[in-house]
Amino acid sequence: MKVLGIETSCDETAVAVVTDKKEILANLVLSQMEHEVYGGVVPEVAARAHLNHIDDMVRQAMLDAKLEFKDLDGIAVTAGPGLIGGVLVGVMTAKAIAAVHNLPLAGVNHLEGHALTVRLTHDVPFPYLLLLVSGGHCQILIVEGVGKYKRLGTTIDDAVGEAFDKTAKMLGIGFPGGPAVERMAASCGNANRARTRFALPRPLLGKPGCDFSFSGLKTAVKRAADSLPGEEYAQDDLIDLCYAFQDVVSAVLVDRIKNAIALCRDIAPAVKTLVVAGGVAANKTIRFALEGVSAQNGYTFVAPPLKLCTDNGAMIAWAGLERLRLGLADAPDFPVHARWPLDPAAGVVSVKSQKV
Ligand code: KG4
Ligand code: ZN
Repeated sequence: MKVLGIETSCDETAVAVVTDKKEILANLVLSQMEHEVYGGVVPEVAARAHLNHIDDMVRQAMLDAKLEFKDLDGIAVTAGPGLIGGVLVGVMTAKAIAAVHNLPLAGVNHLEGHALTVRLTHDVPFPYLLLLVSGGHCQILIVEGVGKYKRLGTTIDDAVGEAFDKTAKMLGIGFPGGPAVERMAASCGNANRARTRFALPRPLLGKPGCDFSFSGLKTAVKRAADSLPGEEYAQDDLIDLCYAFQDVVSAVLVDRIKNAIALCRDIAPAVKTLVVAGGVAANKTIRFALEGVSAQNGYTFVAPPLKLCTDNGAMIAWAGLERLRLGLADAPDFPVHARWPLDPAAGVVSVKSQKV
């Protein structure tokens, strides 16, 4: 089975072809640098950039895969959540290809794309515990199956990737922020000095539950940056502050995952694997910390390869393939969604109500 996947929900135009043998036959990602001057993604600029590139990228992906449209078994496309102008560009492209070549369509939830990536890159059976950390989301979920998610916690304010991006913007060190902060932090030669100089708050650490909060941390970083002497930030100050920030984020994620693992022992004893996914999963310090907490709790830790953590077409093609092989094709007029929770019952139904 071969599926073409299209992703246009944020600032990456991405097209890929994957097979049910877990081969990635093509995987093209164009990161829009048009947003750099604004220090954040501008929806209208993103939609236009997707429109300018999508046709050529689909053509190139098919060339890379050495396939013609008639060789495909389906088309998958991100139908949300995301910036709706961009989502529409991808969805209209996918619908047109599907209509012309008479192919089944899967309108994929972008978050499901992140959630199922490890089943493309590794053999991870359901159920598993998922930490989904990206620019727009920060959630802990139990992945029970395709389309079956139970949310254990979410952020009550900012997403963790957003905190990385805002920190980088405040410090003027680059866009997107995550990799820039990680690079700075990696050159810190004295962890204790960084932690002592910048004793940032550790939001919700030690508190019960699996929720997150990052807006206070962001404000504390701003205050710390404002208190630095001089007209311009000194490189050593930036390095120490980035280290301190990343250290707190990593400690908070580990703390929340500990609570989630304890909860799983009670409500989902079959869960024995921790998966991290989403753009922030590319952060090596965070991966290392999560690997540690998994080992301490007898869990297996799985993370996608770095380039499949940030947005890509392969994850959408794969999630679409998983849906299509279960007979879950969408009607040709399926809608797009700006907001689309993986677990619509989250916050309404108690997570204690069901065992998996
Ligand atoms: O999954 P993704 O590509 O897009 C969304 O679905 O949001 O995630 C992008 C986010 C951005 O906030 C980016 O700064 C963050 O992931 N990110 C990182 C790293 N690489 C990307 N955060 C921390 N460390 C990284 N190495
Ligand atoms: Zn994403």
